[in-house]
Amino acid sequence: MTQDEMKKAAGWAALEYVQPGSIVGVGTGSTVNHFIDALATMKDEIKGAVSSSVASTERMEELGIEVFDANDVASLDIYVDGADEINGEFDMIKGGGAALTREKIVAAIAEKFICIVDNTKDVDVLGQFPLPVEVIPMARSYVARELLKLGGDPVYREGVITDNGNIILDVHNMQITEPKEMEKAINALAGVVTVGLFAARGADVLLMGTPEGVVKKAK
Ligand code: A5P
Repeated sequence: MTQDEMKKAAGWAALEYVQPGSIVGVGTGSTVNHFIDALATMKDEIKGAVSSSVASTERMEELGIEVFDANDVASLDIYVDGADEINGEFDMIKGGGAALTREKIVAAIAEKFICIVDNTKDVDVLGQFPLPVEVIPMARSYVARELLKLGGDPVYREGVITDNGNIILDVHNMQITEPKEMEKAINALAGVVTVGLFAARGADVLLMGTPEGVVKKAK
């Protein structure tokens, strides 16, 4: 089974959590693209979606799913999104696709975070995948120096501007044994918009595609 087939299986498995008549929070990435394809089969039964990126909005609109502004929605039952890494506590690294800030906002609005991944994302300790940090352009050098002090090696993601007009620093060589504390410390740096650690608000349900099928785990 290929990695993409495992992503597809996880994406389609999330459909069973979608309630008729609801508005669904939708993440970003190649795994979520499979979920969006699945969601399109229910487009006449749901009200629509709140999107975490321009890319997901465009894909949903092409498939006829109505996309609502997050400001017009008081709550969401579920948020479905992928991850770059997830540990046993359901803490995650996200932002490989640079959509981390909007992902965190939509996740915050939702009651339940459903994480869809293939089995390559399953880790004991977060940090092998470089940790993305969205930064206001003016603060790039300052934040990079502070990230060095926190033990990481920040690398400017060349040529990438986020949907919010900011830049991304990818922090290499981190062993994140205390994800909640690290999330707080990086978020507290002046000029940081969002760190791609999702620990204060981690996942509630994990749907992991494996060669043996989709493994479901809930907190
Ligand atoms: C987007 O910014 C990310 O948080 C994605 O959710 C994450 O990178 C997973 O992407 P894939 O599903 O493409 O692996």
